[in-house]
Amino acid sequence: MSDIIKISNYIKPFRKTIRIEGDKSLSIRWALMASQAKGKSTCYNLLKSEDIISTLNCLKKLGIKVKIKKDKCEIYGNGLNSFNLKEKITLDAGNSGTLARLLPGLLVHSKKKIIIKGDKSLSKRDFYRIVKPLEKFGASLKTKKGKLPMTIEGTKFPKPITYFEKKGSAQCKSCIMFAALNTKGTTTIKAKKSRDHSELLFKYLNLPIKVIKTKKHDIIKLNGKKKVRPFNYRIPSDISSSAFFIVLTVLSNKSSLVIKSVNINPTRIGILKILKKMNVKFIIKNTKVLNGEKIGDLHIFSSQSLRPINCPTNFNTSAIDEFLLIFLIAARANGISTFKNLSELNQKESPRLKWGSKLLNKIGIKNIITSDSIKIFGNPNLIVKKKIVIKDFDKDHRVFMTSVIAALTFGGNWKIYDKNSIKTSFPSFLRKIKDLGAKIN
Ligand code: S3P
Repeated sequence: MSDIIKISNYIKPFRKTIRIEGDKSLSIRWALMASQAKGKSTCYNLLKSEDIISTLNCLKKLGIKVKIKKDKCEIYGNGLNSFNLKEKITLDAGNSGTLARLLPGLLVHSKKKIIIKGDKSLSKRDFYRIVKPLEKFGASLKTKKGKLPMTIEGTKFPKPITYFEKKGSAQCKSCIMFAALNTKGTTTIKAKKSRDHSELLFKYLNLPIKVIKTKKHDIIKLNGKKKVRPFNYRIPSDISSSAFFIVLTVLSNKSSLVIKSVNINPTRIGILKILKKMNVKFIIKNTKVLNGEKIGDLHIFSSQSLRPINCPTNFNTSAIDEFLLIFLIAARANGISTFKNLSELNQKESPRLKWGSKLLNKIGIKNIITSDSIKIFGNPNLIVKKKIVIKDFDKDHRVFMTSVIAALTFGGNWKIYDKNSIKTSFPSFLRKIKDLGAKIN
């Protein structure tokens, strides 16, 4: 079957209510944490994408029983530090940075050498960020100049550590937290602000954790070697997947959309804060807390008169996966937008800051990029008429899906490669887009 799609029509006005698949960050964290509990944990609405399948496969290789049923997933953990380790197990993290960076935290104790590998795109990404703290715990790690494959060999007595996480990487912070879970004593992390799902999960499970919030950093103190209780969990819809539908609605004519039960954790809604400043119309209703995570129904409307933004850099980590989409809003805004301190964007599944610029060039929007910033010269009257081909983007799911949204809202004749990339995070993406009326071949 062809892996190429073609789009040559704007999407017609729509008014609908939809549900988006489960959150990827929470799905991976649930599975990893459940593997440390003694007994059966059950999860509802687990995201069934390739990143999660890779997570479950890695856990199975480590001796954890996993049952996937129609409406739920069960994990039978054997307790803290009880993976069944054989010599030279190779774990395949596929495309998942979150898996490849969090799971090693659970291996600081491993008596055997474990190899972690990934696909082509993951093998280009930085792993020094977790090597350094895990070595402080006492583990030995080998990488290819900071890249995968990585070999990790734990230590019998991992020592608690004090660490300053400066990148604003939730993956790095969570790796340290998982390692601390298996360590006797108090680990202290001073972390630049980033998504706090791991902290909320530790709290939800009554594990001994204290978080002190300052303006720029969070200080996390946690004590390890406390039993993890088996737990049931429901995953809310992913705000990062919802973001494609938010931006599709904003840029479409006379449309509105309700997205039910979306995770609106304050450390994830940078996109909403940025869009609000850009004059986008939305309302959040029925807010409540589910398993420690805030959720709500998002009501979004087509928005005219979009304002440019000089984007405050303190929004960066809470919108980190949504910038390609935010750049599309800036393309339609009436003036020049600037986004700074975004070097981390080039550390994703593809160099995304560069891809943001390439996409804008393709639709004829002037932009100037540096290694960590972009200036976008918006044009509210932009109509694209030419042929556009999008390919060779390291199969980055978010480049593919952003291109689809651009094609449906700016016009032009698009040919977009690698549709299977959506399986990483959002397998039903194209079906859901078609359900709204989009014509895609
Ligand atoms: C994630 C954290 C972010 C994000 C990624 C998922 C997580 O990465 O880009 O998609 O689940 O912790 P960094 O922590 O590296 O910024």
